[in-house]
Amino acid sequence: MPLKFQVFPDNPAVAKAFANDVVQLINSLLENQEIVSVSLSGGSTPKLLFEILATQYAISVDWARVHFFWGDERCVEPTDPESNFGEANRLFLSVINLPNANVHRVFGEADPAEECVRYEADIRESLEEDNGVPVFDIMILGMGADGHTASIFPHQMELMTSDRVCEIATHPESGQKRISLTGPVLNAAKHVFFLVTGASKADVLFEIDRQQGDYRSYPTSHVAPRNGCQFYVDQAAYAKF
Ligand code: 6PG
Repeated sequence: MPLKFQVFPDNPAVAKAFANDVVQLINSLLENQEIVSVSLSGGSTPKLLFEILATQYAISVDWARVHFFWGDERCVEPTDPESNFGEANRLFLSVINLPNANVHRVFGEADPAEECVRYEADIRESLEEDNGVPVFDIMILGMGADGHTASIFPHQMELMTSDRVCEIATHPESGQKRISLTGPVLNAAKHVFFLVTGASKADVLFEIDRQQGDYRSYPTSHVAPRNGCQFYVDQAAYAKF
């Protein structure tokens, strides 16, 4: 099934448009529910989004009713520049009026196996479930040049079908350990968004959309939630279309 794209000139334009749209979505959800759960992605693409949310939307949302989680986290200290929590906190969460209880970070500094158990319990305590799978309101994902998403890489496709909420993943080049949400959790989310920028993603994005080549080898091609996914991309990532 073709993907749903919104194409923008560059990453700043992607971030600006998505910030506006996700704030509108959160506020519309808050009209009918007390709390909204958001799973954040890591990497470089969302950093601009975090800055825009912090500087332009700090008072546009009752952030005290929004709970933040992570789709994946590197197994590093929260102060490490590699930390997805660390970057989101530095750029966004520490700026807005957000109670600590709303931040459900992955303890990257902990033993990964123990942390998987703890983070799963935190998620299960916080969210409704559908057939035993926790349901996020909003899932923000990125995609790597190899088609990975969250920290589900092509060499660990079993994480796309795991019956656990989160698992230990390893980066295929660096071997860095990570904690990642699993495929069923990504697919159970009500609103799933991909922010994909940069020329390095263009070939894989095209193959996934057109279901060509080895597209099923890319974890991103297996993210197929009930309500579909929306892709916010820049021209560079959309270059093959
Ligand atoms: C991470 C991410 C990962 C990221 C992609 C894209 O922890 O690295 O969650 O899935 O979204 O690798 O990263 P860029 O935005 O840096 O291209």
